Amino acid sequence: MPTLETERLTLRKFSAEDWKDLYEYLSQDKVVQYEPYDAFSEEECHEEAKKRAKQDFFWAVCLKENQKVIGNLYFQQQEPKEFLTWEISYVFNPLYCGKGYATESCREILNYGFDKLGAHRIVARCNPPNTSSWKLLERIHMRREGYLLKNKYLKVNGRGKPIWSDTYEYGILRDEWLRIK
Ligand SMILES: CC(C)(COP(=O)(O)OP(=O)(O)OC[C@H]1O[C@@H](n2cnc3c(N)ncnc32)[C@H](O)[C@@H]1OP(=O)(O)O)[C@@H](O)C(=O)NCCC(=O)NCCS
Repeated sequence: MPTLETERLTLRKFSAEDWKDLYEYLSQDKVVQYEPYDAFSEEECHEEAKKRAKQDFFWAVCLKENQKVIGNLYFQQQEPKEFLTWEISYVFNPLYCGKGYATESCREILNYGFDKLGAHRIVARCNPPNTSSWKLLERIHMRREGYLLKNKYLKVNGRGKPIWSDTYEYGILRDEWLRIK
């Protein structure tokens, strides 16, 4: 997994020392409300940083000026591999939202996926009420391809019953990326 650079950011593999920066945002309920997990404790962030340091699909997004981890991208090839499709998602520290950092890092990873990994297609999924997420996907020129109704649940209610939620599906093809690049 290489280290990538943009104007303001470094995108790199996680290291175990990143747990504190991770804790700053993964410990917040509002940050993880659309994720399939609950807010993390300090101990869980220690474990998570160690785990991510061994994986090649989580990218730590750092400010170039001080190397602080301000968010993360997930970018993983989907099965079957011969379809050359990668999925992207992201979680950022709210202190660093509204400055275009997520957009800048996602553009770079799309570039990396198409140019270096030979991706044919990159996809993303998000919850319709998560406006900042689908606005981000549209800023990086991904197209809304599907609106799935009550197709999944991430959490259960107090009685253990599924809280069903909808999904927007987004995609972008290599040809589309080359046209807008
Ligand atoms: C989804 C998420 C990453 C979006 O963050 P974001 O701050 O809206 O995205 P960016 O960092 O690209 O910033 C874009 C905003 O900054 C503004 N901005 C300021 N300077 C900018 C610049 N140089 N370039 C682009 N946008 C800029 C944009 O206008 C935009 O504001 P707007 O939404 O009011 O129009 C963030 O809300 C998040 O982490 N949410 C929690 C996790 C989550 O839900 N993940 C998605 C699961 S599917």
